[in-house]
Amino acid sequence: MSRSSFIRIVEVGPRDGLQNEAMVVPVADRIALIRALADAGLRTIEAGSFVSPKYVPQMAGTGAVMVGLGLHPGIALPVLVPNAHGFAEARAAGARSIAVFAAASETFSRRNIHRGIAESLEQYQPIVAEARAAGLTVRGYVSCALGCPYEGDVPVARVVAVATALADMGCQEVSLGDTIGVGTPDKARAMVAAVMQAIGAERVAVHFHDTYGQALANVLACLDLGVTIVDASVAGLGGCPYAPGASGNLATEDLVYMLNGLGVETGVDLDRLAEAGRMICAVLGTPSRSRTAEALAARQEEDAPCSMRG
Ligand code: HMG
Ligand code: MG
Repeated sequence: MSRSSFIRIVEVGPRDGLQNEAMVVPVADRIALIRALADAGLRTIEAGSFVSPKYVPQMAGTGAVMVGLGLHPGIALPVLVPNAHGFAEARAAGARSIAVFAAASETFSRRNIHRGIAESLEQYQPIVAEARAAGLTVRGYVSCALGCPYEGDVPVARVVAVATALADMGCQEVSLGDTIGVGTPDKARAMVAAVMQAIGAERVAVHFHDTYGQALANVLACLDLGVTIVDASVAGLGGCPYAPGASGNLATEDLVYMLNGLGVETGVDLDRLAEAGRMICAVLGTPSRSRTAEALAARQEEDAPCSMRG
């Protein structure tokens, strides 16, 4: 299969990014970030998660984020739900799009959501059915698709089995997560190709963390398979609170720069995206982890008249 001429980017910074930052970002700043990302042209932006604030305090207030954002025609604002409790809260906040998250590693599943793989899938089944019946869009995640922080290697067959279970219960797309960023292009290609064959190419999204600097290379390998949905996080924010050593996601700025260079459409304005990244980095008091954002900032500095450089 050949490369698609359009890639839908799923921006996960406000969720996967902020859930792992030391600072708990106030609701108003989370809303401002999501608005800035939408202004940059992103059309799918994960707005948060309805998980236990005892375990992930950074995502408390997701309901207020959703209500504060209001309805955005043409923009999907998915939220993660781990169970019926989270689903009820998501519905109360007016969510129109949800994501359930399973894992291909038994140990990670138990640490992350206190349920084994089979039990988690059982728990998701009625949630997904109810969501679809109510007209919501539903994504499923498979974490640890290329390795587990506790179990090491994860068999491709297990990733295929979990992805198939999620697709069969009604998840319209399944995102394959390299939660700890250990994958390399040939491994990523083999795993993604197997899942594409099982559930259909158009339903597969890829989700790479950049721990070993492989995320962009992995994306490119998967684009050549015909993947059309790629997750990324503005400024390369984030990680996973249940995956020791996992660094941020692939930076959205780096992804857009590469796709622009390949002539692949995304609908995203790189300069405005970089602005959104600068804004959230200023709130967090951390430098951007995007090489593209750094390069753009340096160029801006160079272009500024001497009198403005101080
Ligand atoms: P639990 O302790 O097993 O839940 O946690 P429980 O059902 O036994 O209930 C215990 C208490 O929690 C009860 O309160 C419930 O009401 C409450 P109490 O009676 O003791 O006062 N509770 C909740 N509160 C708020 N929201 C809820 C909720 N559910 C129960 N949804 C649970 C199970 C899943 C809730 C917990 O383990 C949890 O929240 N874990 C956090 C998981 C998480 O957010 N992980 C990070 C996201 S996954 C990820 O990052 C990977 C991904 O990016 C892909 C990749 O990179 O590969 C997606
Ligand atoms: Mg992730």
